[in-house]
Amino acid sequence: MEKSHVVFLLVSLLFFLPLFRGGFSCAAGTQDGSELWGYVEVRPKAHMFWWYYRSPHRVQDPNKPWPIILWLQGGPGASGVGIGNFEEVGPLDTDLKPRNTTWLQKADLLFADNPVGTGYSFVEDTKLLVKTDEEAAADLTTLLIEVFNRNEILQQSPLYIVAESYGGKYAATLGLSALKAIEAGKLKLKLGGVALGDSWISPEDFVFSWGPLLRDVSRIDHSGFEKSNRFAFLGCACVFVLAYLCMCTRNGVEFLLPEKYSLAQHIKQQIDDGHFEEATSSWSELEDVISTSSNFVDFYNFLLDSGMDPVSLTAAELSRGIAMKRYSRYLTSLRSSVGGDGDSLDTLLNGVIKKKLNIIPENVTWGGQSDLVFTSLAGDFMRPRINEVDELLAKGVNVTVYNGQLDVICATKGTEAWVEKLKWEGLETFLSMERTPMYCGNDKMTKGYTKTYRNLHFYWILGAGHFVSQVKPPYLSTF
Ligand SMILES: *[C@@H]1O[C@H](CO)[C@@H](O)[C@H](O)[C@H]1NC(C)=O
Ligand SMILES: *[C@@H]1O[C@H](CO)[C@@H](O)[C@H](O)[C@H]1NC(C)=O
Ligand SMILES: *[C@@H]1O[C@H](CO)[C@@H](O)[C@H](O)[C@H]1NC(C)=O
Repeated sequence: MEKSHVVFLLVSLLFFLPLFRGGFSCAAGTQDGSELWGYVEVRPKAHMFWWYYRSPHRVQDPNKPWPIILWLQGGPGASGVGIGNFEEVGPLDTDLKPRNTTWLQKADLLFADNPVGTGYSFVEDTKLLVKTDEEAAADLTTLLIEVFNRNEILQQSPLYIVAESYGGKYAATLGLSALKAIEAGKLKLKLGGVALGDSWISPEDFVFSWGPLLRDVSRIDHSGFEKSNRFAFLGCACVFVLAYLCMCTRNGVEFLLPEKYSLAQHIKQQIDDGHFEEATSSWSELEDVISTSSNFVDFYNFLLDSGMDPVSLTAAELSRGIAMKRYSRYLTSLRSSVGGDGDSLDTLLNGVIKKKLNIIPENVTWGGQSDLVFTSLAGDFMRPRINEVDELLAKGVNVTVYNGQLDVICATKGTEAWVEKLKWEGLETFLSMERTPMYCGNDKMTKGYTKTYRNLHFYWILGAGHFVSQVKPPYLSTF
């Protein structure tokens, strides 16, 4: 461990060299060109960090150009450069040991700390944080222009946008924004496809999926299900709930559920009415109902308990502000709980990696602005991006959807529900088709299922939770 750190540092110091400085952007990399990284000032005073790894397995084949994967982490506010890279798919793990399942076996990797404020990315004024997925996509498009237009080798590789969790909403919007820039001649890039892994594409469909899923696998009972999903007397219930909410607010009492009124239905109404910020609050309230009804199931794998959450929260203790940040707090705990010998991802990224990169400003802390990123997007968090997926399909872009069987937060049940809402002309045929089972190597055990019709590809990954990439990447073979 000690020794590998020293070697690692030495290598990085020796090979550090500045590559270009255009405007306020800057970049650096290793001497052999296998790694490049830098900042792009995507808007004045808004700086986005990226890190590119060239695969040692890269082969030149004009018939099958070597792909590049842009990895988009969720959150909002989770760092792709940190979590996606060191905990999921990059060449080194959090002990800086080689990861033998790295996706570099199949593709080059490009990580971006997106949106600005995430990871090493930073804004000099918090007003510059993005408030919508489209704003994030515009910044990412600017980053792609800066990175790809200068590099003819990268331009020859198709770019696959691969997303996890909230990253799916950026991926859908970025796909469209990048296509537009390509069509306008502003971006020199070939878009290979968009992959949505356990992605938060339709919050409404996910909140409706939690109750039935957890009831079917015995993790909540009838009463928990009633609170989360069942609704009765809808017309009067709406009026009732409004009155109820006013009362709660006035009394400063925490949200309590009127009997027989479904919180999921309430969230749907808020989304339909365009009250997205309120829907974000209700979402976290529903999470609390599910948590307490299930004796704290892990939202990222229903076979587990929520051991990730450092503070054991009950609905009564939650203030709304804290509740909104549940997911980002989860990610924070993920950041500080990794590394077998007590090393946290924070220590790694703010220590030896920051030194290696050599261009991170002294006063920029990895993850320092991450919580603000989530708060700033609270008004877009619950907005669906099904239409964007539809547009991508209509434009002929390959869209791959993959989902872990054990995930709760972006449950397969919810993913299937939003897929069924697509207006895409191939949908009917797609839905009527049989799935094909998938195996790994000589193993006889079914590892998943897949189905493809035209440019829509779906993978059901058995035994995986929310973080599918940590388990197995069979869908990679399609790239
Ligand atoms: C990769 O890692 C797994 C788990 O640690 C191990 O079982 C396997 O043998 C490794 N494969 C190679 C090629 O090193
Ligand atoms: C870091 O310091 C510089 C110069 O003192 C300042 O301009 C910049 O805004 C600071 N950045 C952050 C993220 O605090
Ligand atoms: C979509 O993927 C298929 C292979 O699955 C490939 O043959 C086709 O060229 C891809 N289409 C586009 C537009 O990239």
